[in-house]
This record gives sequence, structure tokens and C-alpha cells, in this order.
Amino acid sequence: MRTILVTGGAGFIGANFVHYMLRKYPEYRIVVYDKLTYAGNLDNLRAVWDNPRFAFVKGDICDRQQVEAVVREYGVKIIVNFAAETHVDRSIIEPDAFIQTNVYGTYVLLEVVKDLGLERFHQVGTDEVYGDIPPGYRSREDDPLRPRSPYSAAKASADLLALAYYTTYGVPVTITRGSNNVGPYQHLEKVVPLFTTNALEDKPLPVYGDGRQMRDYMWVEDHCEAIDLVLHRGTPGEVYNVGTGQEIENLAMVEVILETLGKPRSLVHFVEDRPGHDRRYAMDISKIRALGWTPRYTPREAIAKAVRWYVDNPWWWRPIKEGEFRQYYERVYGHRKVLGTLRDTS
Ligand code: NAD
Ligand code: DAU
Repeated sequence: MRTILVTGGAGFIGANFVHYMLRKYPEYRIVVYDKLTYAGNLDNLRAVWDNPRFAFVKGDICDRQQVEAVVREYGVKIIVNFAAETHVDRSIIEPDAFIQTNVYGTYVLLEVVKDLGLERFHQVGTDEVYGDIPPGYRSREDDPLRPRSPYSAAKASADLLALAYYTTYGVPVTITRGSNNVGPYQHLEKVVPLFTTNALEDKPLPVYGDGRQMRDYMWVEDHCEAIDLVLHRGTPGEVYNVGTGQEIENLAMVEVILETLGKPRSLVHFVEDRPGHDRRYAMDISKIRALGWTPRYTPREAIAKAVRWYVDNPWWWRPIKEGEFRQYYERVYGHRKVLGTLRDTS
């Protein structure tokens, strides 16, 4: 039995990856190592908790001693690193934890992989490291990195460290750079769950700026399949872009949410923009396609599918929305000026 350590496996994509891997590979054991920050949620792992091939350890990736002990105890051969501070708006307010976890934490994991001679370190990266992409262009894996938020700068640093460990020490590292994921168990701070649950409660949807920013919304399990493929067929030292290759405007994403729920456009409130907001992300995905991966869902299909999950699973999101998230919401949205609204007929 091979053991994979999934760091950050109690978060959104990590938990989906755990479900996917346990289902697909009867010969794998999965150990989740997670600090359980505000974003970590054991409800995300409820369905696999009693699986004998699953184990959970609470811990910080910055704690080298504990990471090493867990790797030894479980005979870990592969680390897939999802652990990170992930929300751009939070990185603007309080960057500290982003530098600590996303940069120092990745360094700690790389040190352990190097010193204990593990088979693979996979870093789950983001398309945000390429920065704001002009219309007509798609980022390629060897493009220069131009991150513009504390979040993306920290993620870019992690990618560079991982590649440096490959070059300098021969650590078998792979990196995927994913676009915006949507699907089950995504924290309500992110736009699709936030807007869906607000709309379900007939509350305003706070669209930043003019809502014409472009994102490539991808179904989370498509992303999990791509990571799986890179783990098994990818080449160490290589980076792979993962997305649908079909970015859409945020206003189009909002339309899908409202249509799926049968809610009025008057819920849309244009509010003050996010500082340094990247207008467009768009990636060339030919490299991962050549490896044999293809996304199953378009952005519109993925968003509609995600919306339906939140409709069907209020048990999951209501406790979050009624908890400390309320203070966060007040802090980020309470003072934002409303610049305009959408009319139902427009
Ligand atoms: P998330 O915020 O939902 O979950 C992050 C998880 O990491 C949480 O369970 C949290 O408790 C854990 N964590 C945070 N700090 C930790 C630490 N110091 N030690 C151990 N665990 C810690 O994140 P997500 O959206 O699932 O993203 C997962 C990864 O994928 C991140 O690396 C992110 O940068 C990357 N990514 C996300 C997206 C997206 O659309 N969400 C897209 C591309 C890449
Ligand atoms: O592109 C991949 C990245 O996608 C990941 O690396 C990040 O971890 C993940 O959080 C996500 O970053 P974004 O900043 O793109 O996601 P977010 O859901 O915060 O916002 C998506 C878009 O919606 C973005 O253009 C900002 C806009 N937005 C967001 C929120 C929360 C709004 O208009 N209003 C909002 O309230």
C-alpha cells in the first residue's frame, strides 16, 4: 500500500482530492495533515472518516519536526501540498500568515522530501502567479511570473522554491497551476459559494468594480484528475497549467448563478473594487492536454453544478455563514461603497 500525505486536505480542493483518490485507488492510503485554520473543516472529510485507508493528523506544515514524524510514522512516499492561505482579500488585509504558510511552509516540506528521499513532492499552484493577462494572450508554463497580490506573490515564491529544489538537489518536484475551482466544500469567502448562498437568502451579491474581470472557472474534480495525472505521468521539474482554457466575465458567472436559482438581477450590487484586482487570467492548457487530460465541464456548466450542490447541502454551509464568518463579512464588505445595481430588465 502506498501512502500519500495530503497537506491542507481539510480544505476545499484538498478534501475533494482525498475523496477522489480513495475512490479511484484501492491500493493507496491517504493521510491528511492540516492545521485546521478557519478554512479547514472536518465536515469536508466526514464521508471518508471511517475508511481504514484514511487517517487525519492535525498539524502545521511550518513545524518541521511534526511533518518529519508523520512522514516516518506512516511511511509516506509522496506529498501533495494543498496547504496554504488562499483568499486574496484576506492577503490584502493581513499578509503575514500568507508568507509564513505559503513560503516557509513549502520550504519545510521540501526540506523533509529532500532529507528523507521521498518519491515525489507535488505543489498545487495557481494561475494568479502569471499576473494580469492582456486580452488575446494565454499564459504558458515558462512565462515570467508577475504576481500582484500578497497571496499570489507568496504562491509564486513557493513555485520558485520547489523548482530550485529540483535543480539544486534533484528533489522530484512537479507543479500544477490551476485556475479558479468551483464545487462542493468551497469556503463561503470565495465568490461562487458566497454569491450562491447570498442569493438563496435574498441578500445582495457584492460584485467588485464593473464585474468585467475574467476568470476560468473549473470544476474541482477536473482539477483533481489533472493532479492525479501529473502525479502518475508528469515529469519531475515540470510545471503544468490546469484550467478549461475558456475564461468568462464575472458578470456572466453571476448570470449563471441567478438563472440556476431563479433569482432576480436586482440582487447584484456593484461595490468598490478589490485593490490591485487582476482583470484577466487565461492559460494555455496544451501541455496538460498533451499528457492526456481534458476538462469535463465548461465554466458555465461547472458554476451551475456547484450552485446546485449548495442548494442541496445547507447542512454544510449554514453553520459557516452563521459563525465567525459574519465578522469577516462585516470587515470586508461593511464599509464598501455601493456604486450601482443591475435592473431586472437591463
Ligand atoms: P482552502 O483555503 O479551502 O484550504 C486550505 C487548507 O490548508 C485548509 O484546510 C487549512 O486548514 C490548511 N492550512 C492552512 N495553513 C496551514 C498550515 N500552515 N499547515 C497545514 N495546513 C494548513 O484552499 P483551497 O481553495 O482548497 O486551495 C488549496 C490549494 O490550491 C492552495 O494551495 C491554493 O493556493 C491552490 N489553488 C486554489 C485554487 C482555488 O480556486 N481555490 C485555484 C488554484 C490553486
Ligand atoms: O485563479 C486561481 C485562484 O482563484 C486561487 O489561486 C485562489 O486561491 C482562489 O481564491 C481564487 O482567487 P480569486 O481572487 O480569483 O477568487 P475569488 O473567488 O475571491 O474571486 C473571483 C472573482 O470574483 C475575482 O475577480 C474577484 C471577484 N469577486 C470576489 C468576491 C469574493 C467579487 O466580485 N466579489 C466578491 O465578493
